[in-house]
Amino acid sequence: MNKNIAILAGDGIGPEVTAEAVKVLDAIAETFGHQFQYTDALIGAAAINATGNPFPEATEESCKSADAILFGAIGDPKYDNDPNAKVRPEQGLLKMRKNLGLFANVRPVSSYDALLPISPLKEHIIKGTDFVVFRELTGGIYFGEPRGRSEDGNTAFDSCVYSKTEIERISHLAFKAAENRRKKLTLVDKANVLATSRLWRETVKDLSSQYPEVALDFMFVDNAAMKIIQNPKDFDVVLTENMFGDIITDEASVISGSLGLLPSASLGLKSSLFEPIHGSYPQAAGKGIANPIGAILSAAMLLEYAFDLKEECQIIKDAVNSALNIGYGTEDIFPDEGKSTSEVGDFISQSIVNQYKTESV
Ligand code: IPM
Ligand code: MN
Repeated sequence: MNKNIAILAGDGIGPEVTAEAVKVLDAIAETFGHQFQYTDALIGAAAINATGNPFPEATEESCKSADAILFGAIGDPKYDNDPNAKVRPEQGLLKMRKNLGLFANVRPVSSYDALLPISPLKEHIIKGTDFVVFRELTGGIYFGEPRGRSEDGNTAFDSCVYSKTEIERISHLAFKAAENRRKKLTLVDKANVLATSRLWRETVKDLSSQYPEVALDFMFVDNAAMKIIQNPKDFDVVLTENMFGDIITDEASVISGSLGLLPSASLGLKSSLFEPIHGSYPQAAGKGIANPIGAILSAAMLLEYAFDLKEECQIIKDAVNSALNIGYGTEDIFPDEGKSTSEVGDFISQSIVNQYKTESV
């Protein structure tokens, strides 16, 4: 297979973790005889510094002409602490999601046996967790208009807006995913307060007749925030709007053991993008301590979702599992004997290459 991948490493730890994901993709290419060509493009603070624009046109072109996009992270404290900043790195990410039509963000959450002891949650509660969150990514309060400030500057407002069409297209994906899993779909909303949530409920309920095998239930987001850590094994597919999905998946990462472990796929009609759910973690940038596994598993999702390479995807997941099982990982998960970002990437990519060598003799 011959494919072009746009690499948008971004800010903070983005470049470090993305480099490890590329190492792993190269190990897969070598092992299976694929050719992956990479095109680097600027986004976020790095792009603002170079061009003044957090999502330059050249980057958009690279994304549109690539077969898939691998993205690192975005954000820089310089902008976080300046409420008057006119451009922000995050605008690059949001513009990219919007312009590329990446409406469905798929975030799988599972527990790792090797990491059960480091979780602040009880082992018997989290062991065996396996659910996936479908987070709507191009609507809701992130994009709704009007937004901004009153003329005197003393009032600020954001609008949460959803259309039926926006709800339907991601709901179909979530129902289909549920059909191929344990056939349970939970819509997380705030229908007791928000009009948009009531439209979500109504729309999803209507669609459910097309998926008779899937059991649909509804949960208010505040209750879901509690249930996700109280009884995570109750969930199979979670469907939710943009902001709720952002918040509950950071929360859910505690079940896995670290925010640094969770990958995601952002799916659109023409493009698909793969990114760890963590941010740019500026405090760790350049120190070689960032966990590359979220980025590596995002590369695995890229192989499965964008190129339909299921076996290759599974091999990466197995290699990650094996590393964790022998206690090989960064300090966020193994504080006493943390390995560096690149050691973890080397270990996982080497184990993929070596496994093939052993199998082929
Ligand atoms: C994420 C991030 C982004 C979001 C930020 C960086 C804008 O937190 O991908 O989850 O809120 O969507
Ligand atoms: Mn987030």
